[in-house]
Parts: sequence; C-alpha cells; structure tokens
Amino acid sequence: MSAPRQEGAPLRAGVVGLGWAGQQHMDAYTARPDVDLVAIAGLEDEPRARLGDLYGLSDAGLFRGYEEMIAQADLDVISVATPTALHAPVALAALAAGVHVLSEKPLAEDAERGAAMVEAARSADRVLDVSFNHRRRGDVKALKKLVESGALGEIYYAKAGWLRRSGIPGLGTWFTRKSLAGGGPLMDIGVHMLDMALHLMGEPAAEAVSASTYAKFGPLGRGGSVDRPTVAAGEDGTVPFEVEDLSTAFVRLSGGATLLLEASWASYIKSDELYVVLYGSEGGAVLGSSGSWSESRLEVHTELHGVPAELFPALGPDGRHGEAVDDFLAKVLAPDWSDFHGEDALTRARVVDAAYRSAEEQREIRLDRPTRQA
Ligand SMILES: NC(=O)c1ccc[n+]([C@@H]2O[C@H](COP(=O)([O-])OP(=O)(O)OC[C@H]3O[C@@H](n4cnc5c(N)ncnc54)[C@H](O)[C@@H]3O)[C@@H](O)[C@H]2O)c1
Repeated sequence: MSAPRQEGAPLRAGVVGLGWAGQQHMDAYTARPDVDLVAIAGLEDEPRARLGDLYGLSDAGLFRGYEEMIAQADLDVISVATPTALHAPVALAALAAGVHVLSEKPLAEDAERGAAMVEAARSADRVLDVSFNHRRRGDVKALKKLVESGALGEIYYAKAGWLRRSGIPGLGTWFTRKSLAGGGPLMDIGVHMLDMALHLMGEPAAEAVSASTYAKFGPLGRGGSVDRPTVAAGEDGTVPFEVEDLSTAFVRLSGGATLLLEASWASYIKSDELYVVLYGSEGGAVLGSSGSWSESRLEVHTELHGVPAELFPALGPDGRHGEAVDDFLAKVLAPDWSDFHGEDALTRARVVDAAYRSAEEQREIRLDRPTRQA
C-alpha cells in the first residue's frame, strides 16, 4: 500500500514494459509537472539502463520484474505495457497494493481475465483504465463533437477497419502466440477500431456478434513487418504463428444499429488503411487514411438547406498517448473513483471474445447481458 502523501505532492508513477508502448507512457508522465516517474521495469538490461538515464531515474528506480517494482517503489499509479497476457497479473498485483492502473490495450487476453481486473479495481476502489490512444486522434475528436451535436442524426450503421498490406508485428514473437497475445489483429488493432466506433456511436451495447478469422500469411512465414522483424525460424524451419491474420465481424448493437469491423495484419490490398464510416439519418462521415495510419482526415456528407454538401471540418491536433495518460490522471485526481473501474474496456473485450467464439463455432454469438455491465 502506498504511503500517505502530503497534500499537493507529485504522484509517484511506474511503468512496466520497455518497448514502444511503455516509452509512450514514460514520455507522458515526465511531461506532467504533478507526476514523478520514479520507476520502470522490464526484462531487457540495455533499454532499462538507457531509459533510466533518459528519464533521470536512480538505480533504485530500475527493476527487472514488475513484482519487485510494485513491492518496493511506493507507487500511486502504474502503467502496464507488457505482452497482453501479463496485463491481468500486473494489474491485479498493483490494485492489491492500492495502486491505480493504466493498462495498454487490449484490457486482457480474454474477457474472463478482464472481468477479474474490473472486479479487483472495484473491490480495491482504485482506477482501472485502458490506453485507447487512437480515440484521441484529431479526426475522432472532431467527429465525436459532430455526432454529439446531432448534426448526423441517428447513427444506424458503421464500418470500421484497420488493414495492413504486410504488418504482422514480430512474426514469431509474443504477438503471434495465442497464450501471450490472446489473438491476432482483431485483438491488437481491431480493438482500437471497435473502441473508436462504439465511442463515436455513443456506447451502444453489443447484443450479438458473427465473425470469421483467417490465417493465410503468418503460417507460411509471410506478411511480416519492417518495424518488428520476423524472428529466426526454429529447427523445424517454421516460426510460431498461432493466431489469425485477418478477421471480419458483424456486430448487432442495441437500438437496431449495426457495425461491420475488419482487421488484418497482412492482406493483398494496395496500401495500409484505417477508417471509420458512420451512416446517420442526417449525414454520413468518413474518417481515416490510406497509406499512413497516423494521418487524420475527416469528410462529412450531408445537406445544407436541401443542397447536398461535402464538409471538411478543421481538425485539432492528435492527442495520442499523452492525452490517454492525462485522462487517466484526471480520473485518479477525481474525488470519487466508482465510475472508473474499467467497465468500458471490458465491453470491448466481450465483443472480441464473442467474435473469436463465433469464428470457431461458425455461428452468431449472442451477448446475454448488455456489454456495459461487468
Ligand atoms: N496503444 C498502442 O498504440 C500500442 C502500440 C503498441 C503496443 N501496444 C500494447 O502495449 C503492450 C506492449 O507492447 P510493446 O509493443 O511495447 O511490447 P514489447 O514486446 O516491445 O515490450 C514488452 C515489454 O514487457 C516487458 N516484460 C515482459 N515480461 C515482464 C515481466 N515479468 N516484468 C516486467 N516486464 C516484463 C518486456 O521486458 C518488454 O520490455 C501490448 O499490450 C500491446 O498491445 C499498444
């Protein structure tokens, strides 16, 4: 349990995971005057020492395993940026020690473990949040405002997808092992698109999911990523690939709306694309980009005084991880944490679980309870 702090003392933050994601959280904490990044943990010696120097940490703030960090670093908040199957163990240990948790996406490798995290956050009465950084894109924030203004009317259908030409992250690493990642692109990048779509549509509950998954590239050692190279083949000449490389899902939502979701790490398309398309009774919107996932772009199709109109709203800057961390800290600094136990992230995990089950059983899966309830 963290020691009592003086009024106004900076929050003590720790980050588990020294990869790209962990470093986004380290940057975000160090950008805040009211937070001290005091500890980092990860298995690799070289980046641990380098990042310790970069962020001015003493040797006492450098840990190999997350258990020692939680036991010794006297933290108020922790970010979890480990392989997905470690999100739940790290979060459960931190919550048991009274530490607020910001997990990387997805919440966990399956909804059962996600529900255990939510339950632990409730009983510890600490914040559990998930870093859905893509909903902080400039185009998403502008479109959210438009939807909330009523300008698009009732949103009754949406399409969302993130498709790569050749981008299996680290073919053969934890990303392509089912026990460590929980799944392939649906779990990795599809969950961002699911989050964006549900967020933009006003959090309708998912009622049923019908999905299919395919693995046409990974099992053949094809479709790897330049950013995260394929690991060397084992003695049998293969690299482990135990997940899908393309998934497609049709989701029935409360109120009769529907969502078509697709995600792939590798497929024969012209170039990578990321999109959300909303169909509303008063207007439609297309968000996203081709070629670069990070380019914000938004078009709105509507009518002005009976005249068909195409609008190109001005977009603010992308918020990315910095804003996800700021939102988490705003929750931590709020007087009451009872609304912040990770329920929204669990709704996403339940849809992903249902999609994998649907693909396996080749039938529609109904979600018995509204997915906003834990
Ligand atoms: N939001 C995003 O845009 C985004 C982007 C990339 C990754 N991610 C997510 O972030 C997480 C990490 O991804 P990554 O690409 O940085 O992974 P990575 O493989 O580069 O890094 C994982 C880190 O976890 C550490 N780790 C593993 N076991 C540990 C243990 N027992 N104790 C302490 N540290 C341990 C490793 O040492 C490593 O430093 C994943 O959940 C991934 O889905 C999110």
